[in-house]
Amino acid sequence: MSEAPRAGAFEGVTCTAPAERTDRMRDIIVAHVPGDRPLRLLDLGCGTGSLVFRLADALPHASLVGIDLSRANVDAARREQARHASSARLAFEVADYLHYAAPPFDAIVADGVLHLVPGETRALARKLAADLRPGGVLVCSMAHECAYNAAFAIVRRALRRVRTPWLDRAILQAGRVLHGREMRDEGLRERVGYMYLPPTRLMGRRLLSEFEAAGLSLAAEYPMKSTSLSQLRHRVTVFTRIGAA
Ligand SMILES: C[S@@+](CC[C@H](N)C(=O)[O-])C[C@H]1O[C@@H](n2cnc3c(N)ncnc32)[C@H](O)[C@@H]1O
Repeated sequence: MSEAPRAGAFEGVTCTAPAERTDRMRDIIVAHVPGDRPLRLLDLGCGTGSLVFRLADALPHASLVGIDLSRANVDAARREQARHASSARLAFEVADYLHYAAPPFDAIVADGVLHLVPGETRALARKLAADLRPGGVLVCSMAHECAYNAAFAIVRRALRRVRTPWLDRAILQAGRVLHGREMRDEGLRERVGYMYLPPTRLMGRRLLSEFEAAGLSLAAEYPMKSTSLSQLRHRVTVFTRIGAA
């Protein structure tokens, strides 16, 4: 179905958003996606699948597919899938979204992913629109335009140029001091690599106009609370695929 993925920075790494954040994403998605009929939903960059499992419980008629570049994530999601009551309605696949091909979905969701996908925003917007059926919904939480994110992008670019194992350890230690009380060590370790990943794009006027041009119409926006100092500030944006449903 899809070409061999290019895992790069995400190779061998798992990623699981804090439960509070995933709960909020689920609630926003459920407010925009019908729960009373069958539908197909794609979680783009699903990490270890925590959002997919929540959505499977909240949308009992949905078939859900989670894709992620990282095999470690997909393996973890599949282990959890085997224990999940809705296992038969779920599928997880190692795939690079840019090379992923499937029939159009009723909904695409992406938490903390679209600002990390490389390449032209226009091409990404066109692919997202093509992967949604008319009337379908895109719900994405991503870094948005603001002074904090602009400054953090500069910091991440600078760190990327001087990355060493020593710097990784220093970042982890700083994370423990700042967030050790509310985040487990495993979660802090997962996040070290993100300190070297500047965003490819930010949600803002330019991105909105590219999405609009591709046929994705802005439907709603929601704030998303930051879970750590090192996290880029996120916002949740909901788009509808233009065209008769
Ligand atoms: C910040 S993590 C978020 C994971 C998950 N959505 C969550 O909230 O727990 C970003 C995820 O996007 C995945 N990712 C990045 N680029 C991708 C791409 N082009 N195709 C598929 N997955 C991608 C990474 O492997 C990583 O697991």
